[in-house]
Amino acid sequence: MTDHLVVFTPSGRRGRFAKGTNVLEAARDLGVYVESVCGGRGICGRCQVEIQTGHFSKHGIESKAENISELGAKELRYAEKRDLKEGRRLSCSSTIEGDLVVDIPLDVQVNAQVIRKAADNKVFERKPAVQLCYVEVEEPDMHKPLGDLDRLKVSLENDWGWTDIEVAQHILPQVQKTLRKGNWTATAAIHRDSATAQPTLIALWPELQNEAYGIACDIGSTTIALHLVSLLSGAVIASAGASNPQIRFGEDLMSRVSYVMMNPEGRGAMTDAVRKTLNELIGEVCQTAEIERQDILDMVFVGNPVMHHLFLGIDPTELGGAPFALAVSGAVHTSAKELDLEANEGARVYMIPCIAGHVGADAAAATLAEGPHRSDDIMLMVDVGTNAEIVLGNKQQTVAASSPTGPAFEGAEISGGQRAAPGAIERVRIDPLTLEPKFRIIGSELWSDEEGFAESVEKTGITGICGSGIIEVVAEMFLAGIISEDGVINGALTERSSRVQETGRTYSYLLHDGAQKIIISQNDVRAIQLAKAALYAGIKLLMDKQNITQIDQIRFAGAFGSFIDPKYAMVLGLIPDCEIENVKAVGNAAGTGARMALINRDYRREIEKTVREIEKVETALEPKFQEHFINAMALPNKVDLFEKLGK
Ligand code: FES
Repeated sequence: MTDHLVVFTPSGRRGRFAKGTNVLEAARDLGVYVESVCGGRGICGRCQVEIQTGHFSKHGIESKAENISELGAKELRYAEKRDLKEGRRLSCSSTIEGDLVVDIPLDVQVNAQVIRKAADNKVFERKPAVQLCYVEVEEPDMHKPLGDLDRLKVSLENDWGWTDIEVAQHILPQVQKTLRKGNWTATAAIHRDSATAQPTLIALWPELQNEAYGIACDIGSTTIALHLVSLLSGAVIASAGASNPQIRFGEDLMSRVSYVMMNPEGRGAMTDAVRKTLNELIGEVCQTAEIERQDILDMVFVGNPVMHHLFLGIDPTELGGAPFALAVSGAVHTSAKELDLEANEGARVYMIPCIAGHVGADAAAATLAEGPHRSDDIMLMVDVGTNAEIVLGNKQQTVAASSPTGPAFEGAEISGGQRAAPGAIERVRIDPLTLEPKFRIIGSELWSDEEGFAESVEKTGITGICGSGIIEVVAEMFLAGIISEDGVINGALTERSSRVQETGRTYSYLLHDGAQKIIISQNDVRAIQLAKAALYAGIKLLMDKQNITQIDQIRFAGAFGSFIDPKYAMVLGLIPDCEIENVKAVGNAAGTGARMALINRDYRREIEKTVREIEKVETALEPKFQEHFINAMALPNKVDLFEKLGK
């Protein structure tokens, strides 16, 4: 029998198939993911492909419209009811009749686009843990006393190959009504978790249900970011964010742990608070997307170990001191109902594993997104917060640690410090000759010496300085010679500039003289030195473990990383010497990792394996930490050279 060359784009996968082969089967044969909810009945339209016509010399193919079967009855019926765009075909209902170039259109492959933006242009495939399966069920027969649910299972086995399906308890009371309402057609949602691959029937609708959604969420100690994602296209449909309501119990992680230790009701109150906010955010994204909570079938959450424990209702006391024991480090598979989350009654919840007592599921998710464990280059990934989470390595070996940077990088414990919010100084430049500063604040596009600046900040005022501003001002003070390598403010400069002022036994730098004076004191410089020395010492310790002196790639994850200028991070010696173009801010990489785990269960397995293999380093127990810390107090460092910075 003649066979024909078929190439699928954009993946480029190709193969030869006999004339008459179904296009969807050919795609699956080559591992090209094409969605199908109705199992090839021509009613869901999820399997659409586009036939490219023309001569494709690269593939050696002349692909013609007539090389695919003519529109059949199923496609005509579908086209009549819904819109089947010009050139589009239902792959489940068409056959190969000659050489073909078949495109999987972008609106079917949205997942690739969504993830591509955030993760080094790598295209990720979709393979959700929840699959919708449309079935036609045999009607009851007095001579065959098989129950309705059992006949539904038979259809799921015959049409979709599911065997040994478990049925969630809440489905049982609905089966009979649902099947009759759908006139013996129904859509079943089958869930398989990454641990057992056991198929479970978690939701059932009458007739065809052609959309299912999931939630990907990063529970940060300051903010919560939540995304509603289509499980059938991988697209983010809506996003919402809120402050973590636990802030009222304690600003940082350790104060929340202390709150639990001191108050018997503390754990429950914080768990309830975060779940309540999550329910509000879920309501918000559903409203934006105009969908029902009932359509949400799967959720992935990430967070640092304390957030992880409090969300799951676990007392985090053990995380407050050595040996920082996690109650559970592996992935957690549970249900939305167990966690009081309002979604479909059968909705599942997956929590990415924690790496260690101070390196959480958020760092694991960021690892999944950025892929140090898949990299040939040595990659350093840091998420800077009150604790810096650090992952370093390549595909041979990856190590992780956390370092107690304290709250200075977040603007706390700094005299004019504040959270990153409108009104906060975020960029600073100091003229090395006059020692005069100029700055920009969050909420204005203008520098303070530009015309119109005063009007542009009228609403917000100039209220303080945030983390990225502090890094820049200290680095600029160093570059302008206001502070020495040891971080001491040079008092002799009081004669040259009124900006340098005597304050008691030390000196300070006046950054802004307004209604709210913003000064950088000697103590502020010390606080930044201590924070950056802790971060650097943690990184150096991991470099020692890996036996390396050079890092090829650096990724700053998290909100802080998005605003900090890599050049200034290096001037201060926060991070080791590296080609500046290889230092990148990757934003909420933890959220990206959560989305990946939501749309593809293989990523769940990948990160579970990676977390098991990552070598965990406890900085507090390493004698070399102190030595690295002391060297890193100097600007940029007492012993390490920053040669690449000078280039
Ligand atoms: Fe549903 Fe093709 S698989 S229309």
